[in-house]
Amino acid sequence: MSKAFKHSFNFSTQHEASYPKKHFASSNNKLSFKSCKASLGAIMVDKMSPFNYDRQSNLKAFDDTKTGVKGLFDSGITKIPPIFVHHDGQNANQNMAKSVHAGKKVNGFGVPTIDLMMDRTNDHINHSDIVNQVREACENWGFFQVINHGIPTSVLEDMLHAIRLFHEQDHEAKSELYSRDMARKVLYHSNIDLYYSKAGVWKDTITFNMEPSPPQPEEIPIICRNAAIEYGKYVMELAVDLLRLISEALGLNPSYLQDLECGEGHVLKGHYYPPCPEPELTFGTADHTDNTFLTILLQDQIGGLQVLNNNQWVDVPPLPGALVINLGDLLQIVTNDRFKSVHHRVLANKIGPRISVASFFRPRYGGGAVTRSYGPIKELLSEKNPAVYKDITIEEYTTQFLKESMDGNAALSHFKL
Ligand code: OGA
Ligand code: NI
Repeated sequence: MSKAFKHSFNFSTQHEASYPKKHFASSNNKLSFKSCKASLGAIMVDKMSPFNYDRQSNLKAFDDTKTGVKGLFDSGITKIPPIFVHHDGQNANQNMAKSVHAGKKVNGFGVPTIDLMMDRTNDHINHSDIVNQVREACENWGFFQVINHGIPTSVLEDMLHAIRLFHEQDHEAKSELYSRDMARKVLYHSNIDLYYSKAGVWKDTITFNMEPSPPQPEEIPIICRNAAIEYGKYVMELAVDLLRLISEALGLNPSYLQDLECGEGHVLKGHYYPPCPEPELTFGTADHTDNTFLTILLQDQIGGLQVLNNNQWVDVPPLPGALVINLGDLLQIVTNDRFKSVHHRVLANKIGPRISVASFFRPRYGGGAVTRSYGPIKELLSEKNPAVYKDITIEEYTTQFLKESMDGNAALSHFKL
């Protein structure tokens, strides 16, 4: 027996007593491993340990319940199942000591907040001041919050509430949407990378593929239909505003990034983080970077989002009415490492649920879309600043990102010259 298998086997027995038996209905281990392989495709297979049949069947049994981690919480468990336990020394407890509570803004340190309202006065000085703030935030943090961004507070509140209502519906109402087929317009599941991450996280997600070809209204569950359509419209406009500001921050024409079709694809995700009985053993979202140009995140008041800055995990404190903006890997590539795609994560919490809504902006992709390639923007390069990435298509990037799974910038370094 390999060491790795023994290790996971020990944990399995240790935790199983508290895990509702119905979620572990006996299944043929070999068969479930094979079906995982078939459904995830060849690129995922090398992430799986061939010895780890026990883990694979537990994953499949959990997935088959179609009730997500919300279902586990509702069943009254007091210990989390072993498939969610992070063993690699990256657990929240160990890292907690290094967290900085940036909400206190000690010595002005913390994720910057930018007031965009000033930008609507057409005052030239204010505008260039905002562009400067955006440049600084993109260079030093890759993360910032915006206030007075033009999306009414009622639209934000309705969206958070609608996502909560969706996840808190009866099992029957949700289970027909349970799927891992990302080509669907609307789908719901727990742990997008369930079968190939090292350990699961305490989160369920409803995904809406909004742009370039949005779902028909009747494809969106009635309980969150109006809110998702309304929020989707506003957040797309904000993405355009931000791409203009970021273009200017780079010294480019305001429409430069839009003309590159950076924000034409919009995927909207409504995350639900139920209370977790053992938050120190797992995460809400594991350490990762986003495979986007730009992400706009709406979070509720619970907290737990952190970004990595100078090797310290820094809280991104909930700010009423604000939206969190972060840059993704694709922006780091086209800016030739000037603007950063920063590692971030969400801690699991005994308190909850926590709701967040993430809007991912990237070029349209798949479905026969024209595939242009992306590389460092020529205007930003010089003899002193030669290209450090090669030109790649979104398909090439996405395949690599999935292969590297949640290992952060590993996908980026693959494309370095
Ligand atoms: C994401 C993400 C953070 C959050 O969806 O990529 O980082 O607060 N979400 O849910
Ligand atoms: Ni993210």
